[in-house]
Amino acid sequence: MKLLEERIRKDGVVKPPDILKVDSFLNHQIDPILIREMGREFKRLFEGEGITKVITVEASGIAIAIEAAAEMGVPLVFAKKSRSRNIANDVWTAKVFSFTHGNTNDIVISKQYLSQGDRVLIIDDFLANGEAVRGLVSLCEQAGAEVKGVGIAIEKGFQPGGKELREKGFRIESLAIIESMNGETGEIVFRS
Ligand code: G4P
Repeated sequence: MKLLEERIRKDGVVKPPDILKVDSFLNHQIDPILIREMGREFKRLFEGEGITKVITVEASGIAIAIEAAAEMGVPLVFAKKSRSRNIANDVWTAKVFSFTHGNTNDIVISKQYLSQGDRVLIIDDFLANGEAVRGLVSLCEQAGAEVKGVGIAIEKGFQPGGKELREKGFRIESLAIIESMNGETGEIVFRS
């Protein structure tokens, strides 16, 4: 998506060795016009899949996911990160390790809001190692819901998540895929 690539080039900041900061338009301050366009693009890409529900993980995925859900006219459910040791038995739960932050979170979705018969679109802001998406896929499997696609704002193509998930047969649509980035010069190369 040209609009997103241009914005990343203009306002993204490469933090060596491999982090892209997009706090000025996506991860802290949010550009509502940009994320609305992203939601429209996800609708265009996944139209025809009969999506009944959009899911994401708190926090940064929610804004983009809500635009996609609104465009599609379906509910958004965000998995909560749980710090409590006692996970209730009325929730689906999975462990998600964050390579970037070096910690593990339990993510949970109430059984009430994800169940058999749901045709799910998973949305997230970043795809790096794929841990978050794998956790969300696990919740869907437990629920007997069908994952019809995965929509990502920014995929770091030099990290393995996207490749591994595509090899498993998931339809992954990333609005911008970064082939490489240079922490010293700030240069970002997109996959065409
Ligand atoms: P994954 O997202 O593919 O599982 O990979 P990883 O374990 O490396 O990512 C952990 C967290 O770091 C995720 O956020 C992810 O969105 C974020 N992240 C990964 N690479 C980058 C990057 O280059 N730039 C930025 N800004 N974020 C990155 P999270 O733990 O779910 O936190 P939240 O911000 O959604 O609350």
